[in-house]
Amino acid sequence: MNLAENANQYFLNVYKRFPFAVEKGEGVYLYDKQGKKYLDFLSGIAVNALGYQHPEIELAILKQLKRNLHLSNYFSQDVQIELAKRLLQLTGYSRVFFTNSGAEAIEGLLKISKKWGNQNGKSEIIALKGSFHGRTAGALSITMQDKYQKQFLPLLSNCKAIPANDVNALRKVVNDKTLAVFYEGIMGEGGVRPLSRDFLDAMYALREQYHFLIFADEIQTGVGRTGYFYYFQKDGYQPDGFATAKGLGGGLPLGAFVVSEKLANLFTLGDHGTTYGGNPLACATGLATVNHISTDAFLNHVKGTGQFFLEELQSFATRYPETIVEARGYGLLLGLEVKEKAGQMMFEAARQGLLFNIAGGNTLRFVPPLIIEKIHVTEAMEKLDRTFQKVFG
Ligand SMILES: Cc1ncc(COP(=O)(O)O)c(C=O)c1O
Repeated sequence: MNLAENANQYFLNVYKRFPFAVEKGEGVYLYDKQGKKYLDFLSGIAVNALGYQHPEIELAILKQLKRNLHLSNYFSQDVQIELAKRLLQLTGYSRVFFTNSGAEAIEGLLKISKKWGNQNGKSEIIALKGSFHGRTAGALSITMQDKYQKQFLPLLSNCKAIPANDVNALRKVVNDKTLAVFYEGIMGEGGVRPLSRDFLDAMYALREQYHFLIFADEIQTGVGRTGYFYYFQKDGYQPDGFATAKGLGGGLPLGAFVVSEKLANLFTLGDHGTTYGGNPLACATGLATVNHISTDAFLNHVKGTGQFFLEELQSFATRYPETIVEARGYGLLLGLEVKEKAGQMMFEAARQGLLFNIAGGNTLRFVPPLIIEKIHVTEAMEKLDRTFQKVFG
């Protein structure tokens, strides 16, 4: 029995695992127990932004290890404060609340919006069809995909779905009762689908008219993934708050929700809390990660490598017009939509030594460590070509 079959005996059967077991990671590669090498363009689902065994992450862990692993939020902690300060400096926002995951960060935004809505006579939350905001009950209520919601109804009331990029639908749904709109600038799990400039412009203009809140889910797009520290910064939008996680902890579980001055003093003592959130070890790796990624030079590296990769995918798409719909995305959050056999391709690519996963049912999603170089893109394209030949040849 292999390790994957073995794992199935012990866990709730909710994951489809790769049929090999990882021994270690190094740089942008994973190695299995037989020593086979995989180019990792999945990176722990967009988490391992600096790859594996990055010296700055290891140093941060070692330093914090000698101090304490966990204290709780009964204590003010320098490493937490440093990271919060850095996030606020980078964004111009006012307050941070640290969580352990993306879904918890969304829950925090939902709660803060509810309190604000109760004070302002507003109750309706809008989210986009095809969105993904997490699996907890609140986050699931605004994850507008049947396949995730339908077994778990009823969820939170007053959550409405509209099609992404449909300005008319948005205009029709918002009114004085609208409390908040949640959006991902690029729907990651929904198939790497960027929202249009028109839709974003309309949404931000309608906020002026109806005074609702806008929350950006930057869990997948954030922390440099698109070549901007946060994707909303690309076009200068100012959501009232945003959620961040995944890459934020540099491989340790860390998320946050961050709010503007308008919401900074809304929560008061006891309104919210967490045991682990802001864990010092995770904040230490988070600080090392954020410091590394937030320089102009690094973000330009992500933009440049991402553009090169996108162009490679686009020219690849022209070679397989009968199979590929299109290549899309920004920075190093890229997708290649295929007409069929996406799942088969993911497993065949793993056999060829390239890891990625599937989003939105039929899009190959690439979220490599942000430290990849062009040679890694070239290597990935060769492996992708071999994969296509195997699956369709
Ligand atoms: C955009 C987005 N929001 C929320 C989540 C949920 O984050 P987590 O799995 O850390 O709870 C994810 C995870 O994939 C995500 O991509």
